[in-house]
Amino acid sequence: MRVRIFFASLLSLALAFSFMSCEGDQGPQGPTGPEGPTGPEGPAGQNGAENCLDCHGSNQLITAKLFQWENSVHATGGNYDHNQASCAGCHTSQGFLERIKSGEPNASADVEDPLPQNCFTCHQIHQTYTSADWAATASEPVNFWVGGETADIGKGNLCINCHQARVPSPALPEPGVDGMATVTSSRYGPHHGSQGVLFTGNAAYEVPGAEPYANGAHTALVENACITCHMATVSGGREAGGHTFRVTSEAGSLNTSGCIQCHTNASELNDLVDATQAEIEDLLLQLGTRLNELGILKDDLTSANASSSAPLNLTNVQLGVLWNYQYIREDKSFGVHNGKYARALLKNSLAAIN
Ligand code: HEC
Ligand code: HEC
Ligand code: HEC
Ligand code: HEC
Ligand code: HEC
Ligand code: HEC
Repeated sequence: MRVRIFFASLLSLALAFSFMSCEGDQGPQGPTGPEGPTGPEGPAGQNGAENCLDCHGSNQLITAKLFQWENSVHATGGNYDHNQASCAGCHTSQGFLERIKSGEPNASADVEDPLPQNCFTCHQIHQTYTSADWAATASEPVNFWVGGETADIGKGNLCINCHQARVPSPALPEPGVDGMATVTSSRYGPHHGSQGVLFTGNAAYEVPGAEPYANGAHTALVENACITCHMATVSGGREAGGHTFRVTSEAGSLNTSGCIQCHTNASELNDLVDATQAEIEDLLLQLGTRLNELGILKDDLTSANASSSAPLNLTNVQLGVLWNYQYIREDKSFGVHNGKYARALLKNSLAAIN
């Protein structure tokens, strides 16, 4: 209250002065007074050009990120044409923002004029017109759609809202529970973004077997997960790192700048990556070949041998193993994300269907 009264009297004082100055002749200008204390920060102005220049100025902050982003699969992948309500939450910028607000997995309707994942998808651009707008649009821990576990991987939470498994039909069975299920789609599996669930060791069919299930070192150690490796200091202008979201360049060379804090020798690291990926690819090939022999997987070793006119009847174990195969294959890191867990899953899956 005192503050308001103070301002009110200041205001009347100012008014009094302005009325007074209308009357008599203007006197000589007085000496400049001492500089007053800095006032509290005012509310964000919607039209303050100074604010605009914080981002749109000559520092080229946006320009650099734009150039990197233009070389990312988010920009070039082209799959934002999947704008149906059930796809738009991950494949379009508008659908994602709607989903984060509503908490519902699907958009309420098909998205018109769909946009791919861009600055506005991940940052709160033009909300306050201050640098606070760089904050992520989603930073809360993520409750996975499959399995229902919650993961908290810091800044990586943004990514795993989309890079997570989709809900399958038929549902993933409980390990150890007998039963049969009918698959009617060649696309049965977690869909193409299993990175978030595999990185945290979730949403797999943990078929009982000799290998214990445990996460590799990266899961707990790599702070902010995805961000540390995929958005590391840029290498080669815009080949990998930063807003390219790439950890390897298109030509296949690994950007080690996010790894080097732990793997201090870059050439040893490249060998380690090659060895891990070769081992996981070999296990995947063995499992895929076996699933193909059983008539569960097509000869391309990528899609299930099922359609609505020719459904596949599988035991729970076969269904779960098919899921595991797609889960590791679609992750595409071939053991880098969570080698220990991937190995256990593949070995136990092989043993279970051999
Ligand atoms: C916190 C950073 C930030 C501030 C502050 C900011 N902008 Fe932006 N603005 C962006 C980003 C990021 C984009 C998207 C870049 C792109 O797509 O080229 C953008 C895009 C734009 C565009 C292109 C049209 C569009 O919406 O995509 C205009 C125009 C624009 N801003 C005007 C302004 C004005 C005017 C202000 C001040 C009132 C302002 N911006 C303040 C970050 C900012
Ligand atoms: C709004 C959902 C969404 C968010 C958030 C998101 N992604 Fe993506 N991401 C996708 C989709 C969809 C694709 C495939 C794009 C296409 O093909 O059009 C993709 C593609 C990628 C690719 C390229 C995959 C390939 O096959 O080459 C990488 C790498 C990637 N994202 C990493 C990230 C990282 C790291 C983050 C967090 C900083 C992130 N993404 C956040 C949806 C998302
Ligand atoms: C949970 C989020 C999510 C939902 C929902 C989703 N997708 Fe995707 N989709 C992704 C991600 C992430 C990728 C990219 C993964 C990568 O390349 O590693 C992707 C990739 C794709 C690709 C490219 C595959 C390839 O091999 O290049 C197609 C096609 C696709 N999605 C179709 C669809 C369709 C159709 C729907 C709706 C019926 C849908 N998606 C729903 C997350 C999602
Ligand atoms: C897929 C999500 C995603 C997209 C798309 C994206 N960003 Fe980012 N951006 C991030 C994340 C995550 C960080 C934090 C990275 C870190 O901490 O190392 C970040 C950081 C930044 C920063 C540094 C902010 C700060 O606080 O200093 C700027 C600037 C920025 N992004 C600009 C952009 C612009 C411009 C675009 C569009 C061309 C864009 N981003 C698109 C996820 C994204
Ligand atoms: C320890 C570093 C590391 C972390 C953490 C990490 N990734 Fe990766 N990721 C990789 C490497 C290395 C590859 C394989 C690249 C290759 O072989 O081309 C990869 C592959 C991928 C791919 C396949 C497309 C591509 O770029 O090759 C996607 C998509 C992806 N990661 C997303 C994510 C997401 C989402 C997260 C967070 C849950 C994450 N990654 C965490 C290192 C990492
Ligand atoms: C925060 C520390 C940290 C970061 C960052 C990190 N790693 Fe690791 N990584 C480890 C540790 C610890 C191990 C387990 C010990 C070992 O096998 O050397 C490991 C293991 C690995 C393995 C073997 C996995 C297996 O199960 O076979 C690969 C491959 C790997 N890291 C690649 C990478 C790559 C590529 C990056 C960067 C893109 C990276 N790491 C970033 C700490 C890290």
